[in-house]
Amino acid sequence: MTTATAARSPEETQALRRAYYERIGQKNMAPLWEVLRDIVPKEPMTPFLPTLWRFKDFKPLVFEGGDLITAKEAERRVLVLENPGVRGKSAVAQSLYAGIQLVLPGEIAPPHRHTAGAIRFILEGNGAYTQVDGEKAEMNPGDFVITPSWTAHDHGNDTKEPIMWLDVLDVPMVNFYTAAFYEDLGEEPQNTRRESGDSMDRFGSGVYPDGSDTSLRRSPIVNYPYARMKPILQRLQHGGEVDPRHGARVRYANPFNGGWVTPTMGAHLALLPKGFKGKSYRATDSTIFACAEGSGRTRVGDEVLEWTRNDVFVIPSWKSYSHETDKEAVLFSISDRPAQESLGIWREESAH
Ligand SMILES: [Fe+2]
Repeated sequence: MTTATAARSPEETQALRRAYYERIGQKNMAPLWEVLRDIVPKEPMTPFLPTLWRFKDFKPLVFEGGDLITAKEAERRVLVLENPGVRGKSAVAQSLYAGIQLVLPGEIAPPHRHTAGAIRFILEGNGAYTQVDGEKAEMNPGDFVITPSWTAHDHGNDTKEPIMWLDVLDVPMVNFYTAAFYEDLGEEPQNTRRESGDSMDRFGSGVYPDGSDTSLRRSPIVNYPYARMKPILQRLQHGGEVDPRHGARVRYANPFNGGWVTPTMGAHLALLPKGFKGKSYRATDSTIFACAEGSGRTRVGDEVLEWTRNDVFVIPSWKSYSHETDKEAVLFSISDRPAQESLGIWREESAH
């Protein structure tokens, strides 16, 4: 064989290969050697781009949608954050969906449930609610609300002000496995069985009801209120516990086992002190950031993303980035790290 190959001209070889590929193609096969470097790259490659959505740009656009369609008609009135590197896939990153949702005074977004897990991070508006499996969670800016896989959820706004939040779902991951189910639960809100703050009091106070199912693979807490999280960040800052890459940071945890809040998505809240100049960092999880307070900038490659309160930005997998501030800022972040960790493929790297 080797002798025969050597005896052929390059043109003959190419022609023979093309004919061979054609024949094996007819049998639904293809040569691995033509695609090997694409499917097994030396390091992560992604068409998704680091991208910033400014609150001052998207707020009026979201409100314009409020004039055009009701929350009930839309089921969920959301503007999807589309990554400019990969349009039309309803994905902000390879594994994550993100959107900005608006619920106007008096509106109801009816109950449903789906396999995809969701989280909300509240940007603006006080006192509207999300109900999760019968618990009514009142929402205020900076609150972090989870609606884990297959939990019934509806949203309502009994206040006089609109509410807007960042939605993040693991839809691309669930769809990758072709494991998506959805169920409509009618027009009316679900019956409230537990009042706002119930699960935080039950499970987030160092105790939990005797006999609780502690094997739960996601947090039993529905809402992690900003008013309870911010003082913890300040304690860390005052204690000098400021990570050179991430600032004074807490991880939202499942109180039963210290694990992530959901099996697919995990979140952090970080205080970046005034004048912070973070060290460069990269990891294989794709991360969505939202600025809860203050302002700053994130360097990623040759780009500088200048962000302020309620701006949202995404850093795709394995892109090196570093945060900087002039004045104090608080950044929320969420990523697909738990899913990658459970698959044993998550990696990180820090500059020295
Ligand atoms: Fe939903």
